Amino acid sequence: MSEAADERSRPAAQRGRQLEVGETDITSSLRTPKERLWRIPEAARASFAPFIERLPALRIGENDLTRIAPGRPMAAGDVIEVRGTVRDCLGRPLRNLLIEMWGANKWGRYTHADDPAREPLDDNFLGFGRTVTDDDGRYFFRTIYPAPYLARPDIDRWRPSHLHFSLVGGSSRLVTQMYFAGDKHLAKDPCFQLLGEAQERHLITVAPSEREGVDTKATFDIVVGGRSPTMFDQS
Ligand SMILES: [Fe+2]
Repeated sequence: MSEAADERSRPAAQRGRQLEVGETDITSSLRTPKERLWRIPEAARASFAPFIERLPALRIGENDLTRIAPGRPMAAGDVIEVRGTVRDCLGRPLRNLLIEMWGANKWGRYTHADDPAREPLDDNFLGFGRTVTDDDGRYFFRTIYPAPYLARPDIDRWRPSHLHFSLVGGSSRLVTQMYFAGDKHLAKDPCFQLLGEAQERHLITVAPSEREGVDTKATFDIVVGGRSPTMFDQS
């Protein structure tokens, strides 16, 4: 039995999901923080060197989740472009940083074998992608606006629309989530509430896109340390 399946087979009270604001979903149990999110300690900040000497073998289109490969049919749903910069605690851009992003499809289901949701899969939706920051620390993704999903049917708990990000540099990996301002499910989402004072930093506001075939655009800047840092899962 896989670790994830083993986790699901336990009674709810025994799962490692007892957060101070209640249990959250079971689809990402190994990723979801069990404690309030934390600022990276000073010493760790100094040693976090998100610079990779050897670039991973990225293929064209890996940062476009709206189709499984360039030239293939589009996934269903509204297209959103997310861009931003990654900076260190002194505001310096972090170049050559590998960023992975994944999110649910138009109906709130992940392209993942362990997602137990009954919502439909979209054969045209890549669902996860990656890119590398440029010399100015910039990144860019195109995806489908992710629907909220019912993470805990037993208690009617929904996760708000969100996108997951992973930053890899050297031997370090930081994982975080981005949320959409105004989502009605934010108030009862344990992951979002655990951000505490840093909630604002993780909220993005979408705007109409002037680009053909793209519905909306948004900016999500990531800061590793500093006065207003992005918060990362303790994993
Ligand atoms: Fe998620």
